Formats: sequence, C-alpha cells, structure tokens
Amino acid sequence: MTRNARRRTPRADLVVVANRLPVDRVVEDDGSTSWRTSPGGLVSALEPVMRANHGAWIGWPGDTGDQPEPFDDEGLTLVPVAMSDREYAEFYEGFSNATLWPLYHDLIAKPEFHREWWDAYEVVNRRFAETAAKVAADGAIVWVQDYQLQLVPAMLRELRPDLRIGFYLHIPFPPTELFGQLPWRRQVLEGLLGADLVGFQLPGAAQNFVRLVRQRVGHKTHRDSVYLPDGRVVVAKAFPISIDFSGFEELARSVEVVERAEEIRRDLGEPRRIFLGVDRLDYTKGIYARLRAFGELISDGHFTVEDAVFVQVATPSRERVSQYKIIRDDIDRLVGRINGDLGRIGRPAISYLHSSFPREEMAALYKAADIMVVTPFRDGMNLVAKEYAACRYGEDGALVLSEFAGAAEELRQAYLVNPYDINGMKAKMLEAYHADPKELARRMRAMRRCISENDVSHWASAFLDELTANRPRHDKQVKPARTG
Ligand code: F6P
Repeated sequence: MTRNARRRTPRADLVVVANRLPVDRVVEDDGSTSWRTSPGGLVSALEPVMRANHGAWIGWPGDTGDQPEPFDDEGLTLVPVAMSDREYAEFYEGFSNATLWPLYHDLIAKPEFHREWWDAYEVVNRRFAETAAKVAADGAIVWVQDYQLQLVPAMLRELRPDLRIGFYLHIPFPPTELFGQLPWRRQVLEGLLGADLVGFQLPGAAQNFVRLVRQRVGHKTHRDSVYLPDGRVVVAKAFPISIDFSGFEELARSVEVVERAEEIRRDLGEPRRIFLGVDRLDYTKGIYARLRAFGELISDGHFTVEDAVFVQVATPSRERVSQYKIIRDDIDRLVGRINGDLGRIGRPAISYLHSSFPREEMAALYKAADIMVVTPFRDGMNLVAKEYAACRYGEDGALVLSEFAGAAEELRQAYLVNPYDINGMKAKMLEAYHADPKELARRMRAMRRCISENDVSHWASAFLDELTANRPRHDKQVKPARTG
C-alpha cells in the first residue's frame, strides 16, 4: 500500500467526515507504526465509494496517540483527527457509546446521561468541524457520518456557508418518545439541521426526525422537508445502505477463497450443516439468544454435534464500556456451558472466535456456512446479512434474519425471526436446517437480485445526487410554529 505523508493540508471537492478513518493505527512491539482496516459496516460501505472518487476522509486514527499528518492511501487522502485519553473515555466510550448508542437502539441497555460527557461531545464535534472547514475546497460536498458527529453539520455551516453538507445516520433513529429522554435533544436536532440533506436507513427513521423537529424545535415541516426561518430547506429521507456486491461475489469465487472454505468445512469435521454468526461483540446483536436457541436444538434432540456446528465470530468492540464487558462475560459462560454439556472430544457445538478477520477469511466463512444467523434486537441495516447473500453465487445457503434489522425491509425472503422469541427462532433455524435446495435457491435468488440492484454505489450516488440536486430555497421567512 502506498502511504505518502502530505506536507500541506489537502483541499478536496468531496470530503467524508467520520468518527474513524478507514484504517486504524497499530503501534508494533518495535515501536514502528502500521495501519489496518478499521472495524464496522460504515468503513466497508464508504471505502470503495471514496476511493473511486479520490476524496478526502477525515477521521480518528483509533488510538489516543499524537495526531499524524494527513497522508495519501491509494488515491484517498486521509486526514487524522486526534483524541486525548479523556476524550476517548468521555466522547467515544461515554456520550457516543453509553448514551446515544443504547438510546438509539430501543434502550436495550440503559443509557447514561452525564453533563461532562456532553461537554466532550461538543468539543470533539467542533474539532472535526474545524478540520472539515480547512480541508473542503470552495463549494465542496461534505458528507458527515453517523451518531458520533451529529453536531458537525451546524458547526461546519457556521464556518463554511458555501459548502453542500450531507449527513447520514448508520444506526436507527429512535421514536420521538425515546429521543425525548435526551437532555440535549434540541441541540442534537439543531446540529443535524445544519445539513442540507439528512439521510437515514429507513423511512420510519426519517419520519421520526421530521416529527421531532416540528415538536421540539418548532420548525414548519411538510412530508420530508423542514423549512428553516433563514429560508433554507432541509430534506430528511431514507437511503438504505448496501455493500460492494460484485466485489464480494468476485472474492468468493476466487480459487483461494473456495479452497479455504473447503478447508474450514474439513476442520469442522464435515458436519451436515454449518451455522454462522458474524458480529461486532455488541449487546444489540442478539448473539446470546441465538446461541441459546442453537444449544436447545441440540439438547432437544433435533440434531447432534456431528450433524451441525455453530461458528460465531465476535469482533472485539468498545471493550471498556460496562455493558460490553457484561455481554462478553455472559457469552463466554454460555459457550462454555453449551460446549461442556453437549460437545464431544474434538467436536465442540460452538466454535467461538473473539477476533476480527480480513475480508478474504470472511468470504471463506460465508462460503463454508449453510445457515447464516443474524438476530439483532435492533440494527440500522446489518451488512453481514447482505455480504452472506453476495457470496452465495451458487444460490444455496439460508439466511435467518431478525425482523428488527433494517435489512429485513429489503430481504423479505430470508427466514425472518423475532429474536426475543427463542422458540420462534428455534423453529425457523430448524426450518432452514431441513429446507430443500429448491426452496433455498428461490429465496437466495430473490435476495441476491435485490442486493445487486441496490449495491453500495447505488446507495452513494442516490444520496449524493439528492444532495447536489438544485433545490430552490423557499422564499418566505418561516416563523417557528412551536418550541419545546
Ligand atoms: O454503525 C455504527 C458504528 O459505530 C459505525 O460508526 C462503525 O462503523 C461501527 O459501528 C464500529 O464501531 P466503533 O467505531 O465504535 O468500533
């Protein structure tokens, strides 16, 4: 990889501002520095789009070391924004991931509200906005990403009114009743209203936002538009995110991946069926519930460990946040219990990998697995479900998918489950286990068609086209209807 340091701050026509750079800095034992792909769906979705456009990407390098100079990475300019230890604790672990994350995910865990965390959120958002103001060329498009940076649009507009600013939320946007708990609800809404276009995964989320703006900020709204007193119109719409479908399929067809998939099956003892889960280790993902369901299918006598195994990849995530520690310990204990009770020598029921893997290994796992199990309690989209389908070019394999993942709105032919209903989940996992190949092919064909027609470049161009479309300003000055 070519990584050349830049001497001057670059100026770009297309700028992405995201909490993380697409690469994380790793300091090796000998003190040298290297970079590796950072975790999460946001990076895997945006990286191909940004590389194709030679844009600039502003983000945090993933540690609390010094601030590296901007550098080029295969056509993309990366502009690091540093974070101190305290900001990491208060902005990242605190306000982003112990306040907003649970609040936006249906209160699966209880959100914590601390005033000093909010202060850190403002400080770090301002730093990102100031960096974007320096990097964006005249009249550039700046695309701000996700819940960690909701104040950036308004802060940036104040500094650079010439810019076209878009914002995209990768996670769910909560119903008005839940959002109303946030002590800083009005500031967050006003932050987002600095954008010209606010994008969400699902139409329901965009509607929640427009309703909240009307109720809490008092602006006039009509359908997907918010009319601001200064004459600006902000549009809020759904743009369901996707993956690089052909890139994944190509990878899955490569000789190396096909051979590795065969090797994985052999290493697992050639069971009749391999179940697979792939997630960041997060309490929203429903990992515990799905492993329980799988264990019960064995203990109920539906199949044995010779017939079926479960491979669960859980990528380490936000490890110092207390709710993440709790779920990790719970899963460790459950896996130990299921393997202790049901496994045989050389045949554990669950192969549990607390680790992250490169794309090639993921494609091999998708190719090796017969049944992909994606059971979040709430998820903005879930790109793993789409990646699995992209790798099943043989039109085989089953997808068991939670109704509460955004992906369920598109992938209607999956085996849809309610992850709160363990018996219901067991029934669908068993149906997928016994399904005949024709039925699987019918479902997989339809899902693959849907994803290939709506891949990540389609997502990015739909958003950017809407952002750059000539939208007239409304001519009347609109007074706030109500405040609250
Ligand atoms: O989609 C939610 C998100 O926070 C993304 O912003 C990111 O890609 C992913 O989850 C990983 O999270 P983190 O940056 O906290 O490791």
